[in-house]
Amino acid sequence: MTARPSIRVRVALRVGAAVVATCAACASVGAGTSAPTPSGGAGAPPLAPKGSDRVEKLLSSMTLAEKITMIGGTGFGTQPIPRLGIPAFKMSDGPSGVRSPGPSTAFAAGVALAATWDPALAQEVGTQIGRDARARGTRFMLGPGANIYRAPMNGRNFEYLGEDPFLASRIVVGYITGMQSQGVSATIKHYVGNDSEFARHTSDSTIDERTLREIYLPSFEAAVREAHTGSIMSSYNLLNGDHATQNAHIIQIMKGDWGFHGVYMSDWSATYDGVAAANAGLDLEMPDARFMNRATLEPALSSGKVSEAVITDKVRRILTTADRMGWLDSEAIDPSLSRYSETGKVAARKGALESAVLLKNAGNLLPLDLKKVHNIAVIGPNAYPGVTTGGGSGHVFAFAPSSLLQGLGDKLGTNATVTYARGLQSLRIQSVLTAFTTTKEGGKWGAQVESFPDNTFSGTPLSTRTEIQFATGVAGFGGDPDLLTADSLPPDRMQVLRGTVQGAPPPRTFDRWTSWYTAPSAGEYTIFVQDTGAYRLKVDDEVVIDSVRIPAAVVRQTARTLTAGAHKLVLEQTGFPELGRTFLRVGVVKQGTFVDPEAKKLAARADAVVVAVGFDSDIETEGNDREFSLPPGQAELIREIGAANPNTIVVINSGGAVDVTPWMDCAKSVIAAWYPGQEGGAALADVLTGDADATGRLPISWDRTLAENPSFPNYYYNDSAHPDRVVYREGVFVGYRGYQRSKVKPIFPFGFGLSYTTFQYANFKVEPVSAPGATAGGTPVPAGHVPLYTVSFEVTNTGHRSGTEVAEIYVGARSARVPRPVRELKGFARVDLTPGQTKRVTLTLDARSFTYFDVGASQWRADAGEYRVELGRSSEDIQAVQSLKLPHTLKVPAAE
Ligand code: BGC
Repeated sequence: MTARPSIRVRVALRVGAAVVATCAACASVGAGTSAPTPSGGAGAPPLAPKGSDRVEKLLSSMTLAEKITMIGGTGFGTQPIPRLGIPAFKMSDGPSGVRSPGPSTAFAAGVALAATWDPALAQEVGTQIGRDARARGTRFMLGPGANIYRAPMNGRNFEYLGEDPFLASRIVVGYITGMQSQGVSATIKHYVGNDSEFARHTSDSTIDERTLREIYLPSFEAAVREAHTGSIMSSYNLLNGDHATQNAHIIQIMKGDWGFHGVYMSDWSATYDGVAAANAGLDLEMPDARFMNRATLEPALSSGKVSEAVITDKVRRILTTADRMGWLDSEAIDPSLSRYSETGKVAARKGALESAVLLKNAGNLLPLDLKKVHNIAVIGPNAYPGVTTGGGSGHVFAFAPSSLLQGLGDKLGTNATVTYARGLQSLRIQSVLTAFTTTKEGGKWGAQVESFPDNTFSGTPLSTRTEIQFATGVAGFGGDPDLLTADSLPPDRMQVLRGTVQGAPPPRTFDRWTSWYTAPSAGEYTIFVQDTGAYRLKVDDEVVIDSVRIPAAVVRQTARTLTAGAHKLVLEQTGFPELGRTFLRVGVVKQGTFVDPEAKKLAARADAVVVAVGFDSDIETEGNDREFSLPPGQAELIREIGAANPNTIVVINSGGAVDVTPWMDCAKSVIAAWYPGQEGGAALADVLTGDADATGRLPISWDRTLAENPSFPNYYYNDSAHPDRVVYREGVFVGYRGYQRSKVKPIFPFGFGLSYTTFQYANFKVEPVSAPGATAGGTPVPAGHVPLYTVSFEVTNTGHRSGTEVAEIYVGARSARVPRPVRELKGFARVDLTPGQTKRVTLTLDARSFTYFDVGASQWRADAGEYRVELGRSSEDIQAVQSLKLPHTLKVPAAE
């Protein structure tokens, strides 16, 4: 309900004096500095303060060799030191459930959690995941994911928390606080700038300092300063030219400015230089000590390139986290906790329920009127089985995932008929159905494959073979139940198992596939390729998909006009998939033939149809990006089902915006369901039937076209002088900040979501806090977060049913020394209201609600002058405005 759930007052008097007193011309908030911590040497980040007596005693008993051993992991855990009784501290992926050992409760994925706008629920979800971790012996959970959503293509958007740093921060603080209440360390990731998945190991996110501080760092800052996260994971990408594991600047911000005393661990194989990483402040190399090992560090210690204090600091951080979380005193597995948890299920259901965003509801088709609707057709690839999460390490092997089909069927029981058709073949079947032949005249089924030693494909091939399909390998990464339930395999056996489930080792040769497709008639065709590596596809010698330099999506599709007759397809695999699996699938489908006629018949007979579409864990996944368009055939499915039945509702699984323009007019209602976790089907049935209000709100701006997305021109490499750079040229104008600058309206704005009832606002007031800096609970508040203004308003449910409103507070500077967004989210509240009920809501604004980052002075700054405080239902729907005048310039040092 409040903008900031917990208030800590540390610099109360200083802030009070600086901000409210009218005497200082250029008041400074929090001008002091925190107690100095020793530094590891020139340019090195500060070392953590001394640990508890117990930690210090352990440290003093350790040999240097043992210390070095501890700073390189082993698979998913730290190295034990049995001589001193220090156990291994196990890790598991998150963020939306305990991935290993599974099965586990799968919660709504990050973007869905952000769509709830409910930090208290995030805290409950964090608590339940922490509990599940304790039931499985996991000490470090590898989540939350807190990178910022720039554009829909990022394959890991589903794990993250949307486009707004304030919203993301509130969710992060709730989630981590809950998780750590269970004695499990959160590991917020990926620090920082991992905002796309194509070429994630080599691309260099080039972000100016102001943008970093205002947009990309705040969720990490909140995790450190407010939620006291035990751990932070690096990103894979470089940031402004340096690998994140050895990037002194960003580590200095984390350990210096924010006072992070926990463990900075590498992402898996993201370390490149043991000495550089050790000195820059990496504390733990994962998954093993490839660089921060004795062979590298001992000579560096002898020659003085690395100091022992630096190594000790890393171990101190690991042991202090262990001590703080109680790991030194408890068995890893808490046997009093069940792995299959009822409390977890309840929180998972709530997450799925609160996150569903109703984007369109023409003629109030929803909630379904069950007096009139007796026959519902459920159609589409995502209707069954339940699509719970996206793919990669964020995939959770869920207990009994509930699909939309089962959810609706169970809910309606014998009161209505729920019919079902998939409606659209899977990509695998579409590929099998494409009758590829090895020669123009027919020949054999399939494709000729020539293997070359390099990707110039010149000269004589090393070998040739015939494949019966234009496809090879197994899709997906990470959903294998044996892999996820194998909690006690020794690391080497685990490697063997992974080797088998993740496919054969990368081929040493580059393959050229040649095949012929005979179009039955002239017309428009969709040609698609599913391939996680680099390749180019030529049709009749023309390149139609170029994924050589930028493997832009797991599934890429293109529309081509083909004449009747044979067409030559050549696919050259120019690079291997990042995750080592060889995987390829190609298909050609004549447009207008995607949809199963039986599905159209079912739709025509039904009173209403729910079409479940979107992505899944094979095609929206870590390690790859995805397209803005729905996967092949899905737009056609919606159009044809919509034509068969006017009461068509579309439910979309995705990690962010998808292109709705080709089919929006054919659907009366549209719901963004994200990846709702294992309870998704049951929760969506509640929303569809009106047992629950639609209460989710968009944590992203939903683009009408990709080209309008403010980051789009800068999403791929964009610096010809530095080919690996992605320069974030849009600066702070990401998402709605960019849309407002360009004055283009997205199809659905940030913060938007319909409810089944209506709301009205009144008595919007903004008043200075009479005694800023008043303590709350006696704990210190970082200077920037001391409340300065109170914002209050009344909200009334003016409809006939109970519902939930999300009230959003935006702040905008009327004039500023630097270009600033028109408005920025600085507070919000979810308000549950019965019909006719009014509630008064009070939120607070603090210095950081007004500031931008002043790079020259390395401080947060809000120029004196006028500001607009706006009360909105979305970033485009402002209901009330108040102006206020900041009498003095506010300044908050970066380290306060
Ligand atoms: C991912 C991390 C994950 C780690 C361990 C990496 O590939 O980027 O998010 O925690 O693997 O699975």
